[in-house]
Amino acid sequence: MPSRPSLSRRIAYRLKRSTLAERAYQFLTTVFSPAYNEDGMRLHKNPAFLSDPDFRRAYAAALKQEPGTRTRWRARTTQWAARRALEIEGDFVECGVNKAFFAASAMEFVNFKERTDRTFHLFDTFEGVASSQVGEGERAAFKNEYADTHAFVRETFKDYPNVRIVKGVVPDSLREAEIERVAYLSIDMNVAYPERAALEFFWEKLTPGATVTLDDYGFPGRDAQRRAADEFAASRDRLVLPLPTGQGLLIK
Ligand SMILES: C[S@@+](CC[C@H](N)C(=O)[O-])C[C@H]1O[C@@H](n2cnc3c(N)ncnc32)[C@H](O)[C@@H]1O
Repeated sequence: MPSRPSLSRRIAYRLKRSTLAERAYQFLTTVFSPAYNEDGMRLHKNPAFLSDPDFRRAYAAALKQEPGTRTRWRARTTQWAARRALEIEGDFVECGVNKAFFAASAMEFVNFKERTDRTFHLFDTFEGVASSQVGEGERAAFKNEYADTHAFVRETFKDYPNVRIVKGVVPDSLREAEIERVAYLSIDMNVAYPERAALEFFWEKLTPGATVTLDDYGFPGRDAQRRAADEFAASRDRLVLPLPTGQGLLIK
């Protein structure tokens, strides 16, 4: 009759079994029932913010701009940045607006319409990417898929006394806007050249503590944008935080 394994062996075996079981459980729940599964992220984390009434109200406002969009965690990042911006001096800026999905979400989250001491500047060509700005390394992945959304965005914010819509090509259009201090900067133009130029233009205007959200930073095929942001950050002795959403975050 085989002898009974020692107590230490039995404990070790149980631990090993429970680790395996835990791993299997994690694998199965991550694959089959992740707590968050959209926008290229399958996460077994606790996205408690999804049930926050303020988040839901703000995301509903964004969905009016682009129904069916599932980018809730990215929207949360911009809401967080907007809330944070209220703690410091400065205006809000987005370069690359399209239908104003993230801008609508951020504005609704902080009830921007009532904050008449601040202006939200929305910069876009409203005609898509300027093809002369597309770099060599970006041409393969380049698709100009944007319709003219100028009238649509104007209609969305027609009752906002503090939203300023600037139609034109960044960086030229930035010079027309007289903006002194910036507390919130969102950059989402899909091309490295104007994104880097916007960073250069606004950096001195950013109030210390202001956030810069780089929407495309960690997305596949966006290497030129990521490199441009990294080079810019390094030139200012900063480091971009890559978020699992694909966004990059920089704090002045
Ligand atoms: C990905 S979309 C922006 C999406 C938007 N942030 C949202 O919340 O849905 C990119 C936008 O950048 C704009 N764009 C690209 N290059 C630009 C430039 N040099 N100046 C101004 N707008 C530009 C395009 O017209 C397009 O509307």
